[in-house]
Amino acid sequence: MKRVLEAARLAPSWKNLQCWRFIVVCSEESKNGILTAIPDANPGKKAIATAPVAIVLCADPQSSGVMGDRYYYLVDSGIAMEHLVLAASAEGLGTCWIGVFDENIVKSALAIPVGWRVVAMTPLGYPDQESSPRPRKKINEIVFREKWNSNF
Ligand SMILES: Cc1cc2nc3c(=O)[nH]c(=O)nc-3n(C[C@H](O)[C@H](O)[C@H](O)COP(=O)(O)O)c2cc1C
Repeated sequence: MKRVLEAARLAPSWKNLQCWRFIVVCSEESKNGILTAIPDANPGKKAIATAPVAIVLCADPQSSGVMGDRYYYLVDSGIAMEHLVLAASAEGLGTCWIGVFDENIVKSALAIPVGWRVVAMTPLGYPDQESSPRPRKKINEIVFREKWNSNF
């Protein structure tokens, strides 16, 4: 757990402002609080319910940049969460990025202050099964050479 959180701590961020906070959820009370925020149809809900730990990523938009319509707290958070996810994977731990939930319910359940956003959460635990890889676009569909749409 310490190594996984340390990987997130070391992530780069806008002006190194480190706008994120990570809440490690272990207790039944806190976990039930965040479970009520996740729609039943969300496949990630079962993983949160069964994992021993959930990590909730919060960010303060005021502690990151805004350039026009680009809100960099989301970029900062995405990088930090991916650091965490990759470090977890290196430890043999499973994660699932969960982005669909009722933010206000999570904030109230975990006493997250006004002004902070809940960007994502993930279960964390040893997976009980191997999931088969989901399809990805081919490299030529997503990588161009020199100009848009030219073959790589
Ligand atoms: C921003 C973001 C939000 C996501 N939200 C959810 C979610 O709410 N529930 C869920 O089960 N999976 C969620 N996922 C997981 C994606 O569905 C999953 O990563 C994608 O289908 C690819 O599958 P793979 O990670 O197994 O390769 C989310 C992933 C991202 C990056």
